[in-house]
Amino acid sequence: MRLGVLVSGRGSNLEAILGAITAGRLQCEAVLVVSNRADARALDIARAHGAATAVIDHRRHAERTAFDAEVVDALRAAGVELVALAGFDRLLTPVLIEAFPERIYNVHPALLPAFKGLHAQRQALEYGARITGATVHLVDQHMDHGPIVLQAAVPIAPDDSEATLAARILAVEHAIFPAALQLCVEGRVRVVGRRVILDGVLPPLPPPMLWFS
Ligand code: GRF
Repeated sequence: MRLGVLVSGRGSNLEAILGAITAGRLQCEAVLVVSNRADARALDIARAHGAATAVIDHRRHAERTAFDAEVVDALRAAGVELVALAGFDRLLTPVLIEAFPERIYNVHPALLPAFKGLHAQRQALEYGARITGATVHLVDQHMDHGPIVLQAAVPIAPDDSEATLAARILAVEHAIFPAALQLCVEGRVRVVGRRVILDGVLPPLPPPMLWFS
């Protein structure tokens, strides 16, 4: 399957995806990495893996829909069939969402529907939660809202800082994001209302990760 990845920053999830492709755990071809920021480290990671890149600066467009239309054009020109949002910091409009129905996957650093939006790790700490985690979900028109494909949980330690918790969550993001994309590639993701039914048996994850489907 032809994969497009949208990024804005550090690119560690992009790196996990590209690594999973190289390792044969994700049967995709990363045909285009699009960044809305020219200085994103993710672009260097894409180039190091030989993936084609494009920079589409959102500041060149007054309207969100015009920016999304340019992104859709680039993805379509590359023949993209599946889209991963890997640290992409723009809200999507229906122009982009409806161009790839049920084929846009996002990773969020919390167990949705808890702690939506920015600084989800800090939100979990400040709330006093004992467990948080990561969610891969389909993207719909609401922020951090679409049907959930995979979730994995991590404990919050009493002495956690935002940085230590973020690192623990990031490790599970890197495991479940490529795994969720592979489920899509295998045609095992069925959307029923706002629920996702996963056909077949899920691959085992290394302990102590908790893995719910
Ligand atoms: C990740 O924590 C992801 O869950 C969130 O943005 C962050 C992106 O990190 N959506 P990276 O660019 O993949 O390193």
